[in-house]
Amino acid sequence: MVAANDIYFLRNIWYHAMASQDLKPGQMVSKLLLNEPILFGRTRSGKAFAIRDICPHRAVPLSCGWFNGEDVQCCYHGWRFDPAGKCVEIPSLMDDQEMELGRFDVRAYDTKEVQGNIWIYMAEDERQSVPPRFDVPRVPGFDDDAQPVVSYTMRFPCYLDHAVVGLMDPAHSPFVHRSWWWRGAKLNPEIKWFDPSPYGFTMRRHTMANMGRGYWLIGGVPDNEIRFSLPAVRTEETVTKKYRVTNLTTVTPLSDDQTDVTFQLFWNIPWGFLLKPITPTLINAFLGQDRDVVIKQQEGLKHESVLRLIKDSDTPARWYYQLKKEYARSQQENREFVSPVKTQQLKWMA
Ligand code: FES
Ligand SMILES: [Fe+2]
Repeated sequence: MVAANDIYFLRNIWYHAMASQDLKPGQMVSKLLLNEPILFGRTRSGKAFAIRDICPHRAVPLSCGWFNGEDVQCCYHGWRFDPAGKCVEIPSLMDDQEMELGRFDVRAYDTKEVQGNIWIYMAEDERQSVPPRFDVPRVPGFDDDAQPVVSYTMRFPCYLDHAVVGLMDPAHSPFVHRSWWWRGAKLNPEIKWFDPSPYGFTMRRHTMANMGRGYWLIGGVPDNEIRFSLPAVRTEETVTKKYRVTNLTTVTPLSDDQTDVTFQLFWNIPWGFLLKPITPTLINAFLGQDRDVVIKQQEGLKHESVLRLIKDSDTPARWYYQLKKEYARSQQENREFVSPVKTQQLKWMA
């Protein structure tokens, strides 16, 4: 049994903040992440940064002010902050009035940009400047300069865990994703090996048997491997002799009941541009089905706080809850993370 409304977010871990394409040079974007208002900006020279979106003077959001491509100026009294959060100017000060501006710095967040995505490290404590313990997640098989061919973000009106569990659940497809272009309602047996992998688990690489109807497009029967890691990063590699298609799905909590799901595709298919115009429509339809059922679930969760997860088909969901709990505990106790996942074969009908 799992307590459905036990709301907490992991700290000291990288979250997907946004796709690089959503932050242009000279632009700032304000976004709530883990209930914290954060201002993202990209300098004119192209470097992305993130600082707390609240002016330390009298709490006006800095996003209400101006960004000249180098520093951010508050709209109320014009205090200026650089991309590292340092207060660099207080316009009301006379030349002979000394003030240590460093007392008014705003919190800055570590960010890192790879493969067309901006990641943010949500440290536990702003004063504790512990460098991130590990690097940002990467899409396997593509180098750091690779860009997603398609990137699509959808907001789910639910708590993080329900979006994550909904996306990793292997048994919902025949009911939620019925469509002529993907699959019908017939159930087939699935038997797969799972192994622990860093901060998560991997569905072991195998040759796909029950292919969805779209796979002929990528040149034959592919191999498939799905990897999940905390806080909510899923990659699915689909590889044929000729081509490689990798889906990156990330889930990021904005608040207790708003969550962003970003679905991206990376591929090396030379004629892939032909598919590009239709993919956003397909992704929208597909993710929309996941979101719609989660919206229905929200109705039930107002009256029920316990989830009764079963073996095998809900085992990935159970692992998710265990992994999250263990990560939080290992942080609290300041010790190494010990994976609760053991190599196991899972069987289900889907
Ligand atoms: S509130 Fe920002 S400068 Fe005064
Ligand atoms: Fe789904």
